Amino acid sequence: MKLILLGPPGAGKGTQAKEIESKRGLVQLSTGDMLRAAVKSGSPIGSELKAVMDRGELVSDEIVIKIIANRIEQPDCAKGFILDGFPRSLAQASALDKMLADKGTKMDLVVELKVDYNRLVERIVGRYTCANCGEGYHDRFKRPSVRGVCDVCGNQEFTRRADDNAETVTTRMMAYYRDTAPLVGYYYCKGNLRAVDGMAPIADVAKAIDALIEAAG
Ligand code: AP5
Ligand code: MG
Ligand code: ZN
Repeated sequence: MKLILLGPPGAGKGTQAKEIESKRGLVQLSTGDMLRAAVKSGSPIGSELKAVMDRGELVSDEIVIKIIANRIEQPDCAKGFILDGFPRSLAQASALDKMLADKGTKMDLVVELKVDYNRLVERIVGRYTCANCGEGYHDRFKRPSVRGVCDVCGNQEFTRRADDNAETVTTRMMAYYRDTAPLVGYYYCKGNLRAVDGMAPIADVAKAIDALIEAAG
């Protein structure tokens, strides 16, 4: 099963990708996480990437296409994968189609997380992550069961993303409208687009996506 989660910043792509990963053993491929890891590792282009991401702009198609092309060749992707945050432009979508066509395969399913744009800022500015295991939390919507302690690993340190502020979110939203929203039409025409209500509680969204995966076989 090869699946794309499509939606604006804060739609729940990462949250749902993790749910699917743990339930179905499909690997989550988040270009955002990969780019943040490249920045953290101090790679030569790291500071350039950081500047672009901190502004909320998109990194160049060339860079992310190369990252994904290498990543899907890894053995853990053989069973299938969940794309979270890629593709994000028509150029990325057609590069992905070509990559898969060259391997004699294609995407099975594209799930659009339909959300209320007015509610995304509160989702994004309230988000934080365990500094040790990367588990995601939210000040209001997903608190650890013991305050200040990660449910998964017991760690007590958390981080917030540099681009998770109200100002940068506006630029990220603009980038979504301009470059990524046309992909809804692109995949609709290809016939593999399905939509779920991304404003439902996290567990309900997960159930709806799971049913779509089941139906897509
Ligand atoms: P990326 O990391 O992909 O960020 P994004 O698209 O802005 O999306 P987010 O991670 O903010 O949102 P999400 O949908 O994953 O939401 P989440 O599940 O965390 O990209 C960052 C940057 O990297 C880009 O700006 C760009 O510069 C660069 N980049 C990455 N990929 C690129 C590409 N392909 N091309 C070019 N540049 C690229 O949920 C948000 C919060 O809400 C969480 O706290 C969660 O707990 C909560 N929540 C989730 N679902 C629900 C729910 N149903 N109800 C209540 N709360 C919920
Ligand atoms: Mg994410
Ligand atoms: Zn943790």
